[in-house]
Amino acid sequence: MESYLLAAVSLATLTFAYTCYGGVLFSTLPQTLAVSASPTDGQVLKAGEDNITITWGLNQSFPDGTDSSYNKVKLLLCYGPTSQEDRGWRKTVDNLSKDKTCQLTIAHRTYMRNTQNITWMIERDVPTAVYFVRAYAYNSSGNEVAYGQTTDAKKSRNLFKVQAISGRHSSLDIASVCFSAFALLSVVGFMVLEKRGRSSAEN
Ligand SMILES: *[C@@H]1O[C@H](CO)[C@@H](O)[C@H](O)[C@H]1NC(C)=O
Repeated sequence: MESYLLAAVSLATLTFAYTCYGGVLFSTLPQTLAVSASPTDGQVLKAGEDNITITWGLNQSFPDGTDSSYNKVKLLLCYGPTSQEDRGWRKTVDNLSKDKTCQLTIAHRTYMRNTQNITWMIERDVPTAVYFVRAYAYNSSGNEVAYGQTTDAKKSRNLFKVQAISGRHSSLDIASVCFSAFALLSVVGFMVLEKRGRSSAEN
């Protein structure tokens, strides 16, 4: 009796864990999408300036109907292995709900039978790193059901580099410079006022 209860509880816990963490393992997904991107192997692109064109669709070597459950497609910019080394926050995990390989979403699209493409300007806040592009197909429940990527399984070929804009450019830097200038002016202003106040009191 007790063992039944234990089994039921374990099953419930497992089910809960499965649904909570998504439970979709990358290794179980078929690579049925053919994905290509305009950058050549090793090309260096500038964030905030350069565009990439991405093309995706069902790999024609799979039979009709392979994509019958595909509802949406998400295109992502993913870190290449050299940009993941010693960076736990970019780690590859088979469980897709914990995977940190692909953190930058390029676009969401409704899945179409025919080949689609998009031209995307690399956003200014994309960090300097080595990347590839991956597409996931989702079913109507929002779970990953297939993928495709511009690199091979080992992520060794067809990687490109994004160079972040050099120099101090972020709005945060500008804000901190403005704030420092404001603080300095306030102090000077306060000293001037105080001095004037004191000298007028002395007179
Ligand atoms: C399509 O799939 C076949 C078989 O898996 C593979 O050999 C081929 O490279 C794929 N083509 C593209 C464009 O991804």
